[in-house]
Amino acid sequence: MTSPGERLEALRKHQRANWFSRSPSEVASANARLLFGTAGEWDLPEGVEPKRDLLYLAVGIPDVDALPREALAEAAVATLSRSGDLALRYGFGKGPSGLREWLAARRSQEEGVGVDAEWFQLTNGSSGAIDLVVRSMIDPGDVIIAENPTYMGTLHNFRGVGADIRYVPMDEEGLDTQALERLLVELRDEGKVVKLIYTISAYHNPTGATLSIERRLRVLELAARHEVMVLDDEAYRDLWFNTPPPPSLSTLSGGCGVIATGTFSKTVATGLRVGWIHAPPELLALFGRMRFAMGQNQFGLRTFGEFLDRGQFEPHLARVRELYRDKRDRLHAALTREVGAYMRWRLPEGGFYLWARLGEGIALEPLWRSAVQEGIAVNPGSGFAAGGNLDMDCIRIAFAWTPMDQFDEAARRLRLACERVLRGDAA
Ligand SMILES: Cc1ncc(COP(=O)(O)O)c(C=O)c1O
Repeated sequence: MTSPGERLEALRKHQRANWFSRSPSEVASANARLLFGTAGEWDLPEGVEPKRDLLYLAVGIPDVDALPREALAEAAVATLSRSGDLALRYGFGKGPSGLREWLAARRSQEEGVGVDAEWFQLTNGSSGAIDLVVRSMIDPGDVIIAENPTYMGTLHNFRGVGADIRYVPMDEEGLDTQALERLLVELRDEGKVVKLIYTISAYHNPTGATLSIERRLRVLELAARHEVMVLDDEAYRDLWFNTPPPPSLSTLSGGCGVIATGTFSKTVATGLRVGWIHAPPELLALFGRMRFAMGQNQFGLRTFGEFLDRGQFEPHLARVRELYRDKRDRLHAALTREVGAYMRWRLPEGGFYLWARLGEGIALEPLWRSAVQEGIAVNPGSGFAAGGNLDMDCIRIAFAWTPMDQFDEAARRLRLACERVLRGDAA
């Protein structure tokens, strides 16, 4: 008779032989298989060794020194010292009412509308918000219209539910509304179900563009005519530098027909995972039914709520707006001096990104590889390009996280990379 120990050993041997070397793609769903092995923001070109320590201008996260550590630490202690266990137990529904009331009051004041806390659902970041919207609304094959280029994280999400993603190009004023109109007509003629138009309407990732007021109205008119909802990702909306962006799509449309999502990742800290959905309460009730994660992170939400109650957010926001404006200006000056002859860009009015179009003779892939070899990481525009066959001869240069005193050297390395490509000596 075999002993329990022997049985266990045989079982483990079998399991190891059976599972250890299998590719996860064998167990992945069809949709997840599409995502397996696709590149992320931190990825570097294959087979390229940087000559020196890499300078990273390739990530969309806040400046490390600007993180409000002390204020968050005090808020966390105060949250944990409170009697009862609210911050340390499951929390369901829309999330703590204090935080939602704060969001509603701020939005009402800034946009001159009258919304209350019932119009907000708290989520784990805006990616949690978008995930909830998408899982609640999209059946495989439903069409989502997205901007091209766009934020790849959301595209992953759309692909993950089997959406049929169609694209409209962008220019300096945001998404091209004539192209949107043509696409909507085409899709109607094809008999497609179009569920959402996804836009990042202010300080777009990656292009930095902001949808103009005229285009905002046009998007809403087209969405209304074709009975498609708009999903407006407001991740960067608060991070304006000199003047606020035009009124939000949700405000312009009177609150209906637009789902707005937002986050404190970019203004405060990505690790907080505090985000929200702003939509009519009936629709939020649907999203609420689709929450499977046993509620939100109550400790994070309540600590952040305490941070807000202590009046820490607005002064912090004012500081980081100024910081990122300075960073943008410093980067612009350095790039103008070093690579002004090799690429063109438009100054973003807010947000984290500068989108530069490469000049004559500078192809994207060789430039990217050479830049990394010279010791500067930027994001190749193709990573944000949806249609695959698009002419995305652009790079995204992210300036929020990288220390400002690295910008001169980063621009110099980028120049070296451009010169190598032009000389035919690319990595
Ligand atoms: C446009 C956009 N939306 C959403 C997110 C996700 O942010 P989070 O889930 O941290 O709120 C990002 C992050 O880079 C982004 O750029």
